[in-house]
Amino acid sequence: MKKIFESVTMNNIALKNRLVRSATWEGIANPDGSVTAEAYEIYEELAKGGIGAIITGFTSVALHDYYFEGMMRLCDDALIPQYKKLVDIIHAEGTPVITQLALGAYYREMDGRFQQVEPDDMTEEEIRYVIRQFIDAAVRAEKAGFDGVQIHAAHFFFLSRFISPAVNHRTDSYGGTAENRSRILTEIMEGIRKEAPSLHITIKINSNDFTYGGLDESESLAICKLLDQAEIDSIEVSGNGTSVGGIKAHVNEGYFAPFAASVAEAVSCPVIVVGGFRSLDTMEDILNKTRIELISLSRPLLREPDIPNKMKADTTVISKCVSCNACYSSPSHKCIFRGRD
Ligand SMILES: Cc1cc2nc3c(=O)[nH]c(=O)nc-3n(C[C@H](O)[C@H](O)[C@H](O)COP(=O)(O)O)c2cc1C
Ligand code: SF4
Repeated sequence: MKKIFESVTMNNIALKNRLVRSATWEGIANPDGSVTAEAYEIYEELAKGGIGAIITGFTSVALHDYYFEGMMRLCDDALIPQYKKLVDIIHAEGTPVITQLALGAYYREMDGRFQQVEPDDMTEEEIRYVIRQFIDAAVRAEKAGFDGVQIHAAHFFFLSRFISPAVNHRTDSYGGTAENRSRILTEIMEGIRKEAPSLHITIKINSNDFTYGGLDESESLAICKLLDQAEIDSIEVSGNGTSVGGIKAHVNEGYFAPFAASVAEAVSCPVIVVGGFRSLDTMEDILNKTRIELISLSRPLLREPDIPNKMKADTTVISKCVSCNACYSSPSHKCIFRGRD
């Protein structure tokens, strides 16, 4: 029997329970990627709340990535001490931390201006440059003391678009088959393994793009198998439109769990599933009916950063998150109900 509140190891990371904070973008970093005092406070509160491991909000590997505002960035060695401080704050609570490395989009410099370029229009040299940016960011993450990195290949961020047949129509070795489209992921992984060997490498991937002609479950499964063969340390299953509304405890929780269960059957690495978990008994039920090892949470932790401690003290506690998604547009992406309970 798997229990949420039991210690577990995810390859080289030891967790005090099976709950993971899924990456949640706060939008409060400075334009150069430097960390603000508010971010330190948010992560300290999360770590004190009892979560087993934290995955940071998406952290761009590039300075010239204008996809979203307030992104953290691991694009410059000068930023390493600030990220080390973040890691130290989280480690002080005995909590491992993984940084989610992302590229929102690739921007090419033309006539002194940066313009977004999609995978089909990139040169091979530019693809190799992006791979290099991910590896360099991982090396900085290792120097800052992170326990791992998560390659963000979900939610139609750059890598998610790159592996999607709806977006990538390249005819070279980076396009065509699922193996070719996901070559960018395996090359990033191999580079990180070589240059930052202490890091746990995980990936967040779409089960489905829910886009005409996009990645579907059979292709996503094929890519997960390829990543497993390339010895990824864990896989987190998500999908486009990840923050589904209208979630009710015991009614429609865990909407990506059926697909994550098939991934867990097909791979040897631990599988994490995100998406609409609100009650402890549902999470344990899914863990015990499948080979899924860990459950990740985003919105429940925005609403109550100490929900793990609350559930541990009283197993009948249900997340107060009403899945309204107002936190996507609130300052610092704080839950709009915080401080009102
Ligand atoms: C405000 C907000 C910011 C988010 N930022 C990220 C992010 O940085 N990276 C990511 O992969 N997913 C991000 N997500 C998606 C969540 O990680 C998660 O996949 C989704 O909300 C479903 O899980 P939940 O029901 O536990 O919230 C974000 C979600 C919210 C609400
Ligand atoms: S604003 Fe609060 S209640 Fe609404 S989805 Fe976000 S965390 Fe949940």
